[in-house]
Amino acid sequence: MGDCLAAGFSLGLKHFSQKASALIVPKNVVLMKIAISGKGGVGKTLLASLLCQTFAEAGYSVIAIDADPDANLAATLTFPHPERITPLSGMKELIKERTGAEPGKNATFFRLNPKVDDLPEKYSQEHNGIRLMVMGKIKKGGSGCYCPENALLQALISHLLLERNEVVILDMEAGVEHLGRGTAKAVDKLIIVVEPSRRSTETASRINKLAQDIGLANIALVGNKIRSQPDRKFLASALPNFEFLGFIPYDQAVVEADQTGQRLASQPVITEVRNIYQALLSSAQVSGAR
Ligand SMILES: Nc1ncnc2c1ncn2[C@@H]1O[C@H](COP(=O)(O)OP(=O)(O)O)[C@@H](O)[C@H]1O
Ligand SMILES: [Mg+2]
Repeated sequence: MGDCLAAGFSLGLKHFSQKASALIVPKNVVLMKIAISGKGGVGKTLLASLLCQTFAEAGYSVIAIDADPDANLAATLTFPHPERITPLSGMKELIKERTGAEPGKNATFFRLNPKVDDLPEKYSQEHNGIRLMVMGKIKKGGSGCYCPENALLQALISHLLLERNEVVILDMEAGVEHLGRGTAKAVDKLIIVVEPSRRSTETASRINKLAQDIGLANIALVGNKIRSQPDRKFLASALPNFEFLGFIPYDQAVVEADQTGQRLASQPVITEVRNIYQALLSSAQVSGAR
C-alpha cells in the first residue's frame, strides 16, 4: 500500500483530501481495482452499481467502467439519458486520431500504445459522485485479434487499472476479454457473479479458467437472486473451491427499480452489498493492494 497510496491519497479519498498529508496515510485506505464478470443476466450490473455507490458514499473517488457490450450500467446508476452516451468503440474520429487507423478497416499499421491518459476526464460522465465510461463492443478473437478499436480500449483499461489513484469498478461480460496478462495483475479482485442455476455455475467455471490462463488469481464469487437456503447450498456445493464474498437475496424491489429507473432502496440487498464491500476491503488489506 505504502508509496502508491501516499502519492494518490488526495485523489483517491476526496472527502479527506484537504486534510491529507503524504506522511499520514490511514492504513485502511485501499484504492481497489475490481472487475465483475458472470453469465448474462446474473446481476453483474446490479452489483457493480451498488459497489460504486457504497465506495462513493464512503468517500472514495470512483470510476465505473461499462465494458459489457450489452451496456446498462448508466441506466442502473440512474444517469439521465443513458441512451445519449456514445460508447468509446463508436467514436471513429477519436480512434483514428489516437491509433492512426480507421476502425472497422483492415489496417496493417496502427499504434498499439495510443495516448489515453486524457480520455477519462474528456469522455466520462458524472452522476451522484460516480464517474462512468462506456466502452462499447470489443472485437473478439483472443490475442490474435488486433484492430484499432481494441488497441484503444485495451490501452485505456490498462491505464485505468494501473495508473489511476481511485477505485475502479469494471462491469464486464461473461469473459475476461478486456484484460490481458499485463493488466490482470492490477486487478485486486475478479468477482464472478452467480445465480442458483446450473448454467450460471458452468459459466463461472469457464470464466475462472480463462482468468487463470491470463494470470488473474484473485477470484471470488458473489451469489445473487438467492430465494432460499437450498439456493445457497446449491451454489456452495456446485462451486466448492471458491470463496463466496456474499449472497444477495432475490428482491422484487430490484426488478421494480429497473422498470421505473429509480435508485434501488431494498434494505436487504443494500446491506448484503455493504458486507461484500467490507469483505473486499479486508481481503485487499491482507493482500496489500494499493
Ligand atoms: N437480487 C435480485 N433480485 C431481483 N432481481 C434481480 C436481482 N439482481 C438482478 N435482478 C434483475 O435481473 C436482471 C439482470 O440483472 P443485471 O444486473 O442487469 O445482470 P447482468 O449485468 O449480469 O446482465 C435485471 O432485470 C435485474 O433487475
Ligand atoms: Mg449488465
